[in-house]
Amino acid sequence: MAVRRLYHEQPESFAFSDANYDWAQKVISRYPEGRQASAVIPLLWRAQEQHDGWLPEPAIRYIAEMLGMPHIRVLEVATFYTMFQLQPVGKKAHIQVCGTTPCQLRGAEDLIKVCKRKIAEHAHDLSEDGDFSWEEVECLGACVNAPMIQIFKDTYEDLTPESLEQLIDDISAGREVTPGPQIDRRFGAPEGGVTTLSEIKDKTKGGDPVAHVVNGAEVASHAFAGVSINSGGNDFDGIPGDGKGPKGKKPSAKKEAKETSPRTKTAKAENAGKPSSEDRPEVEAARSQPTDEHAVSDDHKPELLDGPRDGKADDLKRIRGVGPKIEGILNDMGVYHFAQIASWDENNKAWVDERLMFKGRIDREDWIAQAKTLAEGGETEFSKRVDDGDVPTSKS
Ligand code: FES
Repeated sequence: MAVRRLYHEQPESFAFSDANYDWAQKVISRYPEGRQASAVIPLLWRAQEQHDGWLPEPAIRYIAEMLGMPHIRVLEVATFYTMFQLQPVGKKAHIQVCGTTPCQLRGAEDLIKVCKRKIAEHAHDLSEDGDFSWEEVECLGACVNAPMIQIFKDTYEDLTPESLEQLIDDISAGREVTPGPQIDRRFGAPEGGVTTLSEIKDKTKGGDPVAHVVNGAEVASHAFAGVSINSGGNDFDGIPGDGKGPKGKKPSAKKEAKETSPRTKTAKAENAGKPSSEDRPEVEAARSQPTDEHAVSDDHKPELLDGPRDGKADDLKRIRGVGPKIEGILNDMGVYHFAQIASWDENNKAWVDERLMFKGRIDREDWIAQAKTLAEGGETEFSKRVDDGDVPTSKS
């Protein structure tokens, strides 16, 4: 593993946005008195997300101050874990290639060759357009589907040089990509189909036993943790806690940092008919369970309506990333019109994002830009496909 050093060019200062600051206080309050340092990883991760996908030194100092920790302790954490990027990364993707033995034996070296050819010769260098970067990391915990890579929170498994090239091309072109196995394999099930648990088929009345077993596990774990199915377990919003504990003090900063990372604003583009969580109602239902506490306070609530204006709601499914389930959640929340979504500021977005239980989808699919276009009577490439009936998940 390469030596991990702080980047030679650093911003003057860092501060959490208001919404992220509120969220951080909530996370800190989950730990008992004297144990606030336990919040260091989620806070560093949130800072990285806010700061274009990498962690500047002022953010490390800011979080140390917030948690009452010596600066060096937070620096140690940030430099130890490869999940923290210490220098600018690709705007669209930072590709972490697992180079540990199982992945190595299954072709990781060939994946690295693709990264060198398509992105940059050396790890951590940005591609010419600044959209991509890559590095080799140690085991990312998906060895069963080796070789694999991780891009931000998502893993892409069972890769070949060809499928990795295609993945990079798709991300570059803004086409939707589907995390998980890139071959005909479901989760960690055997390649080519089920070889065990076949007796469960009886209980599923001839249905897919893997879906039965795996989705059941998903529902249980997601209901507990509130994590994204494709998150690689890195969504810390679901940390259970007792809601007690002291509040930290907001460290000072010379200027406010940017609210969100541009990489989260990178559209994954249209739903090209690939399977998505919209096809898995059990998972959707588990994700949509309301929680009894929210980190983003109601001060940041956007304009919500008791019902659609003039009794007619917009078809929110014409926004890429909004299927019938999410549309239902938005309507229940009081969101019926493109203009409402178009008017959200960063804090409103954080408020809705948390309650949707689809972390990051608003930015990832750039709902606000889409909603602005649609509210003005324009069309997007995706809305045209919906209108033409080419998007199955957009049919009510
Ligand atoms: S060895 Fe690659 S994910 Fe474990």
